[in-house]
Amino acid sequence: MKHKGAWPPFFKLIAMSTIDVAFSPAIFERYHIDGKIVVVVDILRATSVICTMFQNGVKEIIPVRDIAEAKEYKNKGYLVVAERNGQKLDFADFGNSPFYFTPEVIAGKTVVYSTTNGTNAITIGKSAQEVIIASFLNISAIQSYLQSRANDVLIMCAGWKGKFCLEDALFAGAMSQNLIHSGKFETICDSTNAAIDLWNVARNDLNRYIEKVAQRHRLKKLGLDDVIDYCLTPDLTDVIPVLNNDRLVSLL
Ligand code: MLT
Repeated sequence: MKHKGAWPPFFKLIAMSTIDVAFSPAIFERYHIDGKIVVVVDILRATSVICTMFQNGVKEIIPVRDIAEAKEYKNKGYLVVAERNGQKLDFADFGNSPFYFTPEVIAGKTVVYSTTNGTNAITIGKSAQEVIIASFLNISAIQSYLQSRANDVLIMCAGWKGKFCLEDALFAGAMSQNLIHSGKFETICDSTNAAIDLWNVARNDLNRYIEKVAQRHRLKKLGLDDVIDYCLTPDLTDVIPVLNNDRLVSLL
């Protein structure tokens, strides 16, 4: 039986937090989220882009799921970053490469953001107590933050149009394993254990393993695969983007 009340101090010291993984937003509603921190991940490319924007000084990001809503913001004069199927939408100011968002372009700005999967996942997750944004770029900062909290965690993979994607699952496995090895987390979630096993299959030669990833080939066809090594690079930043009143801001 799950303990509902506040843990007495002694028990708080030994109570482990749990970590679950949802491989797609399509099954997010199957998970209990009461009291959980939801970690949204979309490695190629949305959450890697979001972390880059905050590292380079963006003021806030307004994630919108619908193209029509993004267009409305554009008509109001907002800076809009929007893509579908990897390609920039015609009314948008920018597509979704992290390399566009230098400090000169992004510092101090409010950005409206709409992508194929990432902003859908963020929108679906916003019913949770807390939603934070993770990528390999800020993986250690996110892990430290989660270890400093006593909350259970659900990693939500953005996937591809409701389906499983390898790169998000690899990240989920990496972070889950690191959190469990910290001694503060445990899991009985099959998805978490599958993600950990997948990570351990791939981790020693990630660039070779990534050859299997469908999104890599989609981006290559569009000539947009120059970002892949960057999106797989750990700890380029310690930003912790968090959803606050439907806008992403930096926690620190
Ligand atoms: C996504 O939202 O799935 C990705 O960010 C799409 C992309 O950037 O190609």
